[in-house]
Amino acid sequence: MEELIYDGTMRILSGIQPSGTMHIGNYLGAVKQWVAYQNPEAFYCVVDLHALTLEIEPEVLREQSLDCVATLLAAGIDPEIATVFLQSHVSVHAQMGWLLECVANFGELSRMTQFKEKASRQKGYRVGLLTYPVLMAGDILLYDAEQVPVGDDQRQHLELTRELAERFNNRFGLTFAVPVGYVPHAAARVMDLQEPERKMSKSISSPLGSIYLFDEPAEIEKKIMKAVTDTDGEVRFDPKKKPGLSNLLEIFSSFDNSTPQDVAQRYERYGDLKKDLAELVVTSLAPIKARYHELRGDPAELDRVIAHGAKKAMATAEPVYRRAAAAMGLI
Ligand code: AMP
Ligand code: TRP
Repeated sequence: MEELIYDGTMRILSGIQPSGTMHIGNYLGAVKQWVAYQNPEAFYCVVDLHALTLEIEPEVLREQSLDCVATLLAAGIDPEIATVFLQSHVSVHAQMGWLLECVANFGELSRMTQFKEKASRQKGYRVGLLTYPVLMAGDILLYDAEQVPVGDDQRQHLELTRELAERFNNRFGLTFAVPVGYVPHAAARVMDLQEPERKMSKSISSPLGSIYLFDEPAEIEKKIMKAVTDTDGEVRFDPKKKPGLSNLLEIFSSFDNSTPQDVAQRYERYGDLKKDLAELVVTSLAPIKARYHELRGDPAELDRVIAHGAKKAMATAEPVYRRAAAAMGLI
């Protein structure tokens, strides 16, 4: 995965599932980068079709999709600059998914780590869980995306996207731009505060393991003060030997735009580090939370943003879909 060399106009696409309140892993690993790299060529997709692979009630999905759009705007994405849209509003996503399913192999999909993990936890899992990364590849390829800012857990899906794009181009002629992933240096994999060997996750997480963007300040403080560390008492960044403490240092440095090593040098005691981290997280999230509630109280404005986003996204994605369909021989 390469470093993002940003010239201010790069075609970017990324996506997030509307599967519940975002945690600071989503924020630091992905959304914070989306805000930083937004430009008129950036497309940010709330992947509601992907969320159908989860057991999710229809009315919950509806609300969470709106929550997710509001959270992205509250985090600082300006819908008049970047394009924010719902995946299901741009019908060529599902269509492109089908074309690419006819390019992907069963074997490569069944080897995806995320599929194996999720499938092992469900009896009789859905076919959509297997084809999930193909739909994701379509999301990316439809926009001729040059860069795809994501957290570390999406590396394998990005590799598959590149592989499918190259295979398609070889078989049917040059059709797709081959995208590059961008994983941030810090906080690409924020770990669970209680089980620092596992990533912070919306679906499986210990009660005190994840910090959600809209947690109350007292909850945030409690979760950080109770975060699992170690007993040697030395403040040092060492993810292998000191995973819990190093995770806190990464979170700290990502919120304060420094490095984990810098932060480590400022502290001698775990308790002091934790106290300051709690304050930093609370003050960083407060404006996002306030703006979120404002936006969520204005459904007409959210509807307007979503409709505007769908129009802009469609204008870009439809010609690419037609290009791919024609290359495959569809009239
Ligand atoms: P998801 O919620 O699975 O749709 O993920 C949305 C984005 O957040 C993706 O780019 C993920 O890579 C990123 N992400 C999810 N969990 C974490 C985590 N624990 N640390 C860093 N990034 C994450
Ligand atoms: N699979 C991603 C996740 O679980 C979400 C996603 C769907 C995505 N389509 C995408 C991310 C396109 C980047 C680009 O987090």
